Amino acid sequence: MSVTIAVLSQKGGTGKTTTVRSLADVLARTGLDVLAIDADPQGNLSDYFDVDPAAEPTLAEVLAGQAKAVDAVHGQVIPANLGLAESELVLAGKIGREVTLRNALREVKRRHDVILIDCPPTLGLLTVNALVASTHALLSTQAQHFSLQGVEQAMEIFDLAKDTLNPELELLGVLLNIANMRTRHARQTLEALDERFPGKVFNTVIRQSIAYAESAERARPILEYRPERGADYIALAEEVLTRLGMDDRARRLEQVRQDTLPARLLA
Ligand SMILES: Nc1ncnc2c1ncn2[C@@H]1O[C@H](COP(=O)(O)OP(=O)(O)OP(=O)(O)O)[C@@H](O)[C@H]1O
Ligand SMILES: [Mg+2]
Repeated sequence: MSVTIAVLSQKGGTGKTTTVRSLADVLARTGLDVLAIDADPQGNLSDYFDVDPAAEPTLAEVLAGQAKAVDAVHGQVIPANLGLAESELVLAGKIGREVTLRNALREVKRRHDVILIDCPPTLGLLTVNALVASTHALLSTQAQHFSLQGVEQAMEIFDLAKDTLNPELELLGVLLNIANMRTRHARQTLEALDERFPGKVFNTVIRQSIAYAESAERARPILEYRPERGADYIALAEEVLTRLGMDDRARRLEQVRQDTLPARLLA
């Protein structure tokens, strides 16, 4: 059975794209067949995967019904570019606009173990399509003022998708991302999230590091570019796999740690 995880947040710059890129890499290292989908017209995920900007077809053509999703897979990703913004506008006027992605992904879902969808920084039609097409949602948030309200707003869209079109949808977890746990504010945010979403907040916090921006710039996953930073995402992947009931895969992460992390980080 394949799982599809939508990574979303109410606002921009919370680390969604970095989370999708890094999780795709770590999960693939456990032997899973992982497909990433760029559902953001900014195309950041496609760049991070180093997809040729001229690659076609993209998610825009898939949503427009002009291409099959299986034909839009370039390497490990179905890419996006600004054309997706136009595709979203056209989609808005159509019947079945919220289920278009779900219908389009039927065949690719059979071909991959895990699909990760990178949502845009708005809770609009593309994010709704991602949630309706997914089995799980992962909410990313940063410790900032009003971040809790942001998570609440993302949860409203999650509930809407679940109550209307996708009753099977599950909240995989809430992730505190790009965090500096030395600040009281970040620690308080984590506490507040824990109180509001008991049992749902990941124990793993993704620590702030300039290495992520550099790894994106070089279009290389963090474990390749700066292995010691990748430890956070290995820990997150372990929680994700355990929550998904994929314990055998979670156990394989020990080998991934041995193979990638510097000796001083290994217990
Ligand atoms: N753990 C981290 N520490 C520091 N910087 C990070 C971290 N993760 C991501 N970044 C950087 O923060 C910026 C925003 O991250 P990212 O693009 O992943 O967020 P996003 O939520 O996808 O943004 P958008 O909403 O615009 O799509 C990028 O420059 C990225 O390289
Ligand atoms: Mg992004």
